[in-house]
Amino acid sequence: MQDQVFIFDTTLRDGEQCPGASMNMTEKLEVAKQLARLKVDVLEAGFPISSPGDFQAVQAIAKQVKGPIIAALARILEKDVDRAGEALKSASKRRIHTFTSASDIHLNSILRLTRQQNLDKSVKAVKQALAYTKDVEFSAQDTGRADRGYLVELYTAVAEAGATTLSFPDTVGYSVPGEFGEMLATMMQKVKVPGVIFSVHCHNDLGLAVANSLAAVQAGVRQIECTINGIGERAGNCSLEEVVMALKVRKDLFKVRTGINTKEITRASRMVSTITGVVVQPNKAIVGANAFAHESGIHQDGVFKNRETYEIMEPADIGLNDNVIKLGRRSGRAGLKKRLNQLGAELDEKQLDLAYEAFVALADRKKDIYDDDLLTLIAPEGDKKPDFALADLAVTSGTGQTATARIELTKDGKSLKAVAEGTGPVDAIYKGLEKLTKTNYTLITYTIQAITGGTDAQGDVTVVLEYKGRRASARAAHTDVLVASAEAYVGAINRMAALKDTAFPPKGI
Ligand code: KIV
Ligand code: ZN
Repeated sequence: MQDQVFIFDTTLRDGEQCPGASMNMTEKLEVAKQLARLKVDVLEAGFPISSPGDFQAVQAIAKQVKGPIIAALARILEKDVDRAGEALKSASKRRIHTFTSASDIHLNSILRLTRQQNLDKSVKAVKQALAYTKDVEFSAQDTGRADRGYLVELYTAVAEAGATTLSFPDTVGYSVPGEFGEMLATMMQKVKVPGVIFSVHCHNDLGLAVANSLAAVQAGVRQIECTINGIGERAGNCSLEEVVMALKVRKDLFKVRTGINTKEITRASRMVSTITGVVVQPNKAIVGANAFAHESGIHQDGVFKNRETYEIMEPADIGLNDNVIKLGRRSGRAGLKKRLNQLGAELDEKQLDLAYEAFVALADRKKDIYDDDLLTLIAPEGDKKPDFALADLAVTSGTGQTATARIELTKDGKSLKAVAEGTGPVDAIYKGLEKLTKTNYTLITYTIQAITGGTDAQGDVTVVLEYKGRRASARAAHTDVLVASAEAYVGAINRMAALKDTAFPPKGI
């Protein structure tokens, strides 16, 4: 039997640190359930000390999500470890992930600790965490730029104190594969404490997060930390789908297996993208819209004759199928429910009613309804009723006339109306929405993509807004791209209002 490489997913913790990608509790639970279907081994649910919302999300996931080990992050501080232990109480399998830093630049400039003080505090935190669970992971940020002698000392001390997983983050994505693999080989040789699992956590600043993780596996590491679609701080984290598929497609070389159900990859990718509003680039490996599209005639001819000529994996391996739903305008609620269940959506009666209402409206506008269209109907609702809702929109624009938007919003049952002009229809809509909501946020991103082919395809709009350093994103789909543009903007305004109640991660991380 081949060795197993454990997959530690941190989409809900490090992934959520991606600008604009914050998720509410309902959304986190939705993603966590999908990660369980994907069969990740460890699911890092959050950083409980960072905000009451994060604490509650970890608590809810610990209670409701079965299968993976549920992990919570904590600095090497007593209050952090207690908070993580508390949040994880009801998990049947739990892990406290405590972390510090290893490089001198972090120790001197952020933590202001000597190497010895850092080591002593780390040992203390590991021992404290062991009182909550026997499964304790230790990480020291910036190992890629740290002194190797100190790394051996620090990691040996925490392993002797009882840490069961030793993770080596390349926090700033500085390492390159040869050197990173060699560093891990040295660590495994010198930190000689039986039974510990070595892990890596790679960031993608040089586009090498997956390559570095694979080099670490070749050196003997048996846990990889990663996120769906590679989302995360700055350039993101190691992408789960890429690293898992590399290990699967090249099992001849790596000679290891993972427990991941790869057929759930596409659904996980789309769900995370829809919920966070972080768009997947079309040429992204594995999950990009073009990952299996052959454009050149020579390639198409080759694939037609023998798929293996230009394809190293099958779309079905990642759960990508032709996905034309057989439901039509007259399809009933039961048929819709069945298909949504097949897509992994567990809806209660009220949610199903809403999805069915939206489905019937969509079927009136669009002939063929694809799974991707259906997924737009079931994006989870927020924890509370949205502040603003779009009630009506009429836009006039064209050559030789000023674009004008007439908008009606509702808030707390009251109707708000405005007329606004702009340089184009979207500009006019957004000016009107600013007027009605009395907001003045900076529009950071506006993207629009067709969800499927054809002129009746739904336009999928993503909007990211910024206000005082906080970013909020939202996504909306509609066959009328101007309605989608308005819905996405209103969604982002509502999210910004919700974000004002949440805290930023505490200083010193
Ligand atoms: O990148 C990093 O170093 C981290 C740690 C908190 C593990 O995310
Ligand atoms: Zn990280």
